[in-house]
Amino acid sequence: MYLDFVKYFFKANNAHSIHSPFVFEFFNKVFKDKSIVPCSRFIEAERLRLMSSHKTIERKDFGAGIKKNTPQKISSLAKTSLKSKKWSQFLYRIVKFYDYKTIIELGTSFGITTAYLAKTNPHAEIYTFEGCPETLKIAKETFHNLEIQNVNCVEGNIDLTLGDTLKKIKKIDIAFFDANHREEPTLRYFETCLSLKSENSCFIFDDIYWSEEMKSAWKAIINHSEVTISIDLFFVGLVFFRKGIEKQHFVLK
Ligand SMILES: C[S@@+](CC[C@H](N)C(=O)[O-])C[C@H]1O[C@@H](n2cnc3c(N)ncnc32)[C@H](O)[C@@H]1O
Repeated sequence: MYLDFVKYFFKANNAHSIHSPFVFEFFNKVFKDKSIVPCSRFIEAERLRLMSSHKTIERKDFGAGIKKNTPQKISSLAKTSLKSKKWSQFLYRIVKFYDYKTIIELGTSFGITTAYLAKTNPHAEIYTFEGCPETLKIAKETFHNLEIQNVNCVEGNIDLTLGDTLKKIKKIDIAFFDANHREEPTLRYFETCLSLKSENSCFIFDDIYWSEEMKSAWKAIINHSEVTISIDLFFVGLVFFRKGIEKQHFVLK
């Protein structure tokens, strides 16, 4: 991954080399936006509370990378498996900027990134998916503590819950894929969500360089015929489906 980062770093461009007006606007007004996220203080206090917890939970895991069904410290999980403040705020800014209202998050964990997504607009509707019951219980406490009421928690293996849940939704404005970091499920979830995308939707994939499988999944996603704009930010990758423009791939820093 270190070598991948070095390659990314030397390939990545800044504002001067972006000729797409859409991507130029995204880069300057969303990616480079450093303004204060108003809800951040409260959500970060919740993150800190979890990072300081002395409790353990019984993890039931479906994803790649973590040991199966073992007791794990809440503090270690909060330190290692949640998106950082910087990237959670980045997601918040995307949702705010494009005024997205229907939001899918695959992989709730303790609900920290979910909270940022939910706080963008009380009228936004968030569907967040988590397979581990004890983890989701903590996420629900997070939502309660932050007075969040616009989150629908879908408990169970995404393999089984995604299709049925999407039947209740008319469209997906934004989807954040942060659950099973394997190639086949990532591509399968992507294909499932594609049926509800619109020209303005954005799909975001976490950890696109995390493993050979994730690199391969990302390659397949950006080459998909429905994807017109893809943006590699190393830690996450974004794809858009805007019509009437030439397919273009950007590597930005
Ligand atoms: C990296 S964490 C999510 C972090 C969260 N999005 C954040 O930034 O705060 C991934 C979560 O996805 C869940 N997960 C992985 N594979 C899953 C599956 N197939 N079905 C349901 N949940 C799954 C794991 O239990 C874990 O809690």
